[in-house]
Amino acid sequence: MSPEKWAGTLLLLLIISFSGVSGGFVGVNIGMDLSSSPSAEDIAALLRSEGVTHVRLFDADRKLLAALAGTGIQVTVGIPNTELLRIGQSPSAAAAWVNLNVAAQLPDTNITAIAVGSEVLTSLPNAALILVPALTNIHAALVASALDSQIKVSSPQAMDIVVQFFPPSTASFNRSILPVLSLLLNFLEKTEAPFMLNAYPYYAYSDAKGIYPLEFALFRDLPPAQRIVDPNSDLPYDNLLDAMIDAVYHSMEALNHTHTPIILTESGWPHGGDSSELDATPGNAIIYNTNLINHVRGGGGTPGRPESEVSVFVYEMFDEDLRPGPMSEKSLGVIYPNLTAIYPLQLGSGGALAANPSSALGVSGLYCVATPGADALALKTGLDWACGPGLANCTALQEGQPCYNPNTLENHASYAYNDYYQRSSSSGGTCNFNGTATTTSIDPSYGTCVFTGSSKSSGGGGSSGGGVLGPTTSPGGLSNGSPPRIRVSRSAFLVTFFLALFHHCY
Ligand SMILES: *[C@@H]1O[C@H](CO)[C@@H](O)[C@H](O)[C@H]1NC(C)=O
Ligand SMILES: *[C@@H]1O[C@H](CO)[C@@H](O)[C@H](O)[C@H]1NC(C)=O
Ligand SMILES: *[C@@H]1O[C@H](CO)[C@@H](O)[C@H](O)[C@H]1NC(C)=O
Ligand SMILES: *[C@@H]1O[C@H](CO)[C@@H](O)[C@H](O)[C@H]1NC(C)=O
Ligand SMILES: *[C@@H]1O[C@H](CO)[C@@H](O)[C@H](O)[C@H]1NC(C)=O
Ligand SMILES: *[C@@H]1O[C@H](CO)[C@@H](O)[C@H](O)[C@H]1NC(C)=O
Repeated sequence: MSPEKWAGTLLLLLIISFSGVSGGFVGVNIGMDLSSSPSAEDIAALLRSEGVTHVRLFDADRKLLAALAGTGIQVTVGIPNTELLRIGQSPSAAAAWVNLNVAAQLPDTNITAIAVGSEVLTSLPNAALILVPALTNIHAALVASALDSQIKVSSPQAMDIVVQFFPPSTASFNRSILPVLSLLLNFLEKTEAPFMLNAYPYYAYSDAKGIYPLEFALFRDLPPAQRIVDPNSDLPYDNLLDAMIDAVYHSMEALNHTHTPIILTESGWPHGGDSSELDATPGNAIIYNTNLINHVRGGGGTPGRPESEVSVFVYEMFDEDLRPGPMSEKSLGVIYPNLTAIYPLQLGSGGALAANPSSALGVSGLYCVATPGADALALKTGLDWACGPGLANCTALQEGQPCYNPNTLENHASYAYNDYYQRSSSSGGTCNFNGTATTTSIDPSYGTCVFTGSSKSSGGGGSSGGGVLGPTTSPGGLSNGSPPRIRVSRSAFLVTFFLALFHHCY
């Protein structure tokens, strides 16, 4: 394909991503277990300026609810586990809760959902029997106030409710919680509410100790030989999150519930962790969350439920340093308490919260290079695209420049692919080039030829001021609106090489 055609393809991708396709929504969790909190008014002002459309609060925080009034932001309010017993046992306690925290806030604060409890079935099994009564009492109180059609009631569950999630087509719920889950699913179906799921590919990936490639967890393209296929359904999976969601869909189907949609009440990736949590890095966090948001906004569902859009509340706004648990659980935030960005992320329509873009360059320590032995014509096409429409800086490849020699297609493509990738990965650019590219953690620099993103270089791409809110300056030139993921090819090479591993490891 000529560079002109590539440009045409790129334009088409841009048009598609800026016009008709509307995916699920992206919201953000706001937990307030932090030692220094910004004011509710400042939080609301930030959400507004960033164009955030949905938030989830963990309790009926009076100040935040008041600050969100008049913003139009749709709010999911939580009922903490500590209040479950009271509300599950007493319809009048449930009615009082609804009156005080919901009815009295409407219509100024646009409450559209109530999340009853948090991961009750796995973290608080003793309270399981009170869960559905609590949901029922809250729903009855909404019916009494004629609010049930505009406010959905559900209960977020952890991924641990599924015993073994891969392959998704054989996943099932843990038997010990089946009775309560059946009641929960009946309630959700009857009230047409979604199933709320918290799913963290970071923890699934870490717990699996090397079974999954990191790229699978980060929504990055896998080399063709590593494509992952469910052996029973033959469905190809290109990311771990979709597999996790389909595992829950499949488990629900086993209980004859085929119509209840899943909404992700939590997903995210820690930007820091304990010394044993090596993959909890800012680089991986920005890549995961950026690709997560693009995946959701891109529309479409999972391989198993392509027609069911997925929506997500990114976890979470602030690092909650007062939470118990490993360092990673205190490091899932995207914004500092002083309301500057920890790393750039486009949570709403208002432009990304920009941190210093150079901090996003190469932070993951991954380089994108030509696959050895790749087809020469395909390399030439990819090289022309990267240096043309891809806006890679190919100056160093000119005759007389440091990376000209060895004068081979593979070397030149590697340099150009990597320069493109370092500039665009934070806005969704991928390392694929029609299957001729692959990522590596080995710095490909040699002699005076320094690859972009290398620690041997002084910086690499563009960088501008830091620590302030405002639109990102995407070095790839694809800044406005939601950045498209540029995928050159989706041709699937359905190799099931590591499925055998699953049978050994689980
Ligand atoms: C609240 O959100 C609902 C659901 O999208 C929307 O239809 C309604 O107009 C919103 N109300 C206000 C007051 O913004
Ligand atoms: C199922 O849940 C029970 C109770 O929470 C737990 O003890 C058990 O380990 C779980 N089983 C599996 C296979 O995860
Ligand atoms: C699901 O439906 C099938 C067919 O109607 C029935 O045989 C099966 O027992 C049902 N399973 C459950 C868990 O209700
Ligand atoms: C905000 O807080 C972070 C972390 O404490 C700090 O690194 C940064 O410099 C602060 N930014 C401003 C503008 O105060
Ligand atoms: C392109 O790279 C060369 C070095 O190879 C550098 O001198 C030049 O400033 C870069 N141009 C831009 C626009 O970044
Ligand atoms: C990708 O490569 C295949 C064969 O290697 C070729 O048939 C196809 O046209 C290429 N696609 C693009 C977009 O260049």
